[in-house]
Amino acid sequence: MRVLLTGASGFVGRALAPRLLADGHEVRCLVRRPDEFDVPWRDEVTVVQGAVEDDQAVFRAGDGCDVALYLVHAMSDRRRDLVARERRAAGAFRDAVENAGIAHVVYLGGLVDEDRLRLASDHLYARQQAGEELRAGRVPVTELRASIVLGRGSASLALLEAAARSPLQLDAPWSRARTQPVAIDDLLEVVLAVLDGSGRTRAVLEVGGPDVLSYGELVARTRAALGLAPRRSLPLPYLPPEALASASAIVAGVDTALTLALLQSARQDTVVTDGHARTRFAPILTTGVDQALRQAFQEPVRG
Ligand SMILES: NC(=O)c1ccc[n+]([C@@H]2O[C@H](COP(=O)([O-])OP(=O)(O)OC[C@H]3O[C@@H](n4cnc5c(N)ncnc54)[C@H](OP(=O)(O)O)[C@@H]3O)[C@@H](O)[C@H]2O)c1
Repeated sequence: MRVLLTGASGFVGRALAPRLLADGHEVRCLVRRPDEFDVPWRDEVTVVQGAVEDDQAVFRAGDGCDVALYLVHAMSDRRRDLVARERRAAGAFRDAVENAGIAHVVYLGGLVDEDRLRLASDHLYARQQAGEELRAGRVPVTELRASIVLGRGSASLALLEAAARSPLQLDAPWSRARTQPVAIDDLLEVVLAVLDGSGRTRAVLEVGGPDVLSYGELVARTRAALGLAPRRSLPLPYLPPEALASASAIVAGVDTALTLALLQSARQDTVVTDGHARTRFAPILTTGVDQALRQAFQEPVRG
């Protein structure tokens, strides 16, 4: 299959490209900065310069492809601006892949509760809106929705590690919200199964691993995976989210806007409510949190 891969320089894209190549797919990567696109498999893919909003570039990259993978997200600290950017990018991409004759789009979005959309963080709401925009065209879209993806090189793992290594375990109110992380390798297998098996289905599939746990518990498990002794937790005095995000971003070495987006998304439960994908991909979605964390800390950054 000929695959148009966006987000190839990101955490998920860098992990996915070698798996696509190993399965015999031909990969075309749409990247904004080819000069900085330094990956070991670069000679095995075609690189096209451009952003997803650039219809000419998407057309050039996607012409002759069977499927397009939408693995990008926008960043902004203003909700209206973020949603507008996500919608604009997804809308432009949708029209360009349709013009290029692509038959199927696979989009990796965030796990969001549609019944409580008003409570969703700006980031998760914008991700949901990007999915709506992609679906508004003629090309069938499979939207995979995930909470935290556990793997080396992810911003979420860097933040978890920073929290786990901190001398104090801070008990923030939001640390009681629940998440259902998925191991990167399990997620990649699901993506490959969606490409190979089901073909061109319109669907929203909620993808999560076998464990549901609070963010506080996830930090404690991360600490254990790093071989560190358990700590007593202390109640966190109120801190403006921006201040907490700035401090966490510096410690974890992660972009501040992305840190704020992830921390805000951690205030609500992000767990699977529709078990369809968990049933359909039961043999794949088996890696528990402890194993996923151990693997993540043992392996080098991929790509
Ligand atoms: N990581 C997780 O835990 C997680 C969880 C759930 C869902 N997801 C979803 O999975 C997808 C990938 O996430 P990730 O963690 O791999 O993100 P990431 O590491 O932040 O990478 C984002 C990628 O998007 C590219 N990008 C952003 N805006 C673009 C644009 N306008 N045109 C072209 N490329 C653009 C970036 O390219 P540059 O190098 O040019 O910046 C980068 O390659 C996203 O849709 C995200 O919402 C991730």
